[in-house]
Amino acid sequence: MAQYEDKVLHELDGIKEYDNPMPGWLMAIWWGSLIFSAGYLMFYALSFGEGTMEAEYRQQTASDVAAVQAYFDANPLVPPKAMELLSGARDSAVLDVGAARFTRSCAPCHGEQAQGLIGPNLTDDRWLHGGSVEQVFQSVAKGWPAKGMPPWGRAVAPEELAALVSYIRSVQGTQPPNPRPAEGDPVAPEALPER
Ligand code: HEC
Repeated sequence: MAQYEDKVLHELDGIKEYDNPMPGWLMAIWWGSLIFSAGYLMFYALSFGEGTMEAEYRQQTASDVAAVQAYFDANPLVPPKAMELLSGARDSAVLDVGAARFTRSCAPCHGEQAQGLIGPNLTDDRWLHGGSVEQVFQSVAKGWPAKGMPPWGRAVAPEELAALVSYIRSVQGTQPPNPRPAEGDPVAPEALPER
């Protein structure tokens, strides 16, 4: 230790403190993170740069929504015939399929009994996007992504899509408790075929 004697800075009760500098790599991390944090703070927290995280998120969402719409415009789903959708509303096997899918995928937003929650009430006679079974099919298949209604046309098998529309037609006028207030224009429900 004799060679360090000249570096002794303090001595107290026989404990000696040497004047050793911090190793260079540790200083580099220290200065590096200090400079990085200043930049990070300016760019993100004080939003001097263009990208606040919120702006980036909005931009990304808008372009995703546009891409989905462009895809559906280029690849339209052909809806089943209206008569097929309407007669499904009388077919208990079809309705079971539709109800099961509704509970799984739609009830979180439209309510267990389609009475409306975040999404509109689907049992009343008012519609934002048209209430014919063909229009309802389009709403379900293409969605209204900018308004929070996801597109289901590629996520749900075609016969389940049709069953969903038949199911929605079958709950018309059921007047479930705690409905969401009516929205949109009045549309008389289409007649179901004779049994
Ligand atoms: C994440 C929430 C959400 C889910 C899940 C959802 N919807 Fe929607 N839905 C909405 C919202 C919000 C609207 C209203 C869109 C608007 O204001 O234009 C809507 C609108 C609709 C409409 C048009 C209603 C009208 O008045 O014209 C139909 C039909 C519909 N949804 C059916 C379904 C079906 C069927 C499912 C399940 C496969 C489903 N939705 C799942 C949120 C949802």
